[in-house]
Amino acid sequence: MKLTYYGHASFLVEVKGKKILFDPFITQNDLAKNIDIEKIECDYIVISHAHSDHTGDVVAIGKRTKATIICAFELYQWLSKKGLENFRPMNTGGKWTADFGSVKCVVAQHSSCFEDGTYGANPLGFVFNTDEGDFYYSGDTALTMDMQLIPKWAKLKFAVLPIGDNFTMGADDAVMAAEFVQCNKVIGVHYDTFGYIVINHEDAKKKFAEKGKELILMGIRETIEI
Ligand code: NI
Ligand code: MN
Repeated sequence: MKLTYYGHASFLVEVKGKKILFDPFITQNDLAKNIDIEKIECDYIVISHAHSDHTGDVVAIGKRTKATIICAFELYQWLSKKGLENFRPMNTGGKWTADFGSVKCVVAQHSSCFEDGTYGANPLGFVFNTDEGDFYYSGDTALTMDMQLIPKWAKLKFAVLPIGDNFTMGADDAVMAAEFVQCNKVIGVHYDTFGYIVINHEDAKKKFAEKGKELILMGIRETIEI
């Protein structure tokens, strides 16, 4: 598997020859200015919730690539009015088996609303089972007891967790989340983009290391083999 980071909570996973893009928010992210979204190719776009820092570029990228958008049912209703055509609408607890493996929607404790005030459904996290390994993207969330269920569904190779605090978990709770989901390798997201969520990278890494876990903070546009 390959993972490319596009800043904030946006990243792309390549698994079984398929490209899965998560929460595209690039053109409005000052830290990601050097990324040309016209060059991003993907087969699927996974959207965790309606907030603009997760949906900012979904219409542009979705229209050009014709990627299948995996999102909550109400997000599908809103996005389908914006000219997007290919969807897999889902909701909490549901699982879908596709060509890359399977994806299961899990609880995220957050809020979800479009900028125009349209209801954005419950926010979602996602557990992926694939032949190349399992992974979890929590989406924007607080630490929740529900995360303890995830090891029943997957043996995680890595987890993508927010660590920026203020709007989501901070590093301390993300360490506990990594314990709940039984995963030692965490990709940190949702930090530094805005003043409210600027963090000390070394402190965050130390908190994970103290529990025998690795926190990976990727450069924007960096790709790693994972
Ligand atoms: Ni949010
Ligand atoms: Mn967010």
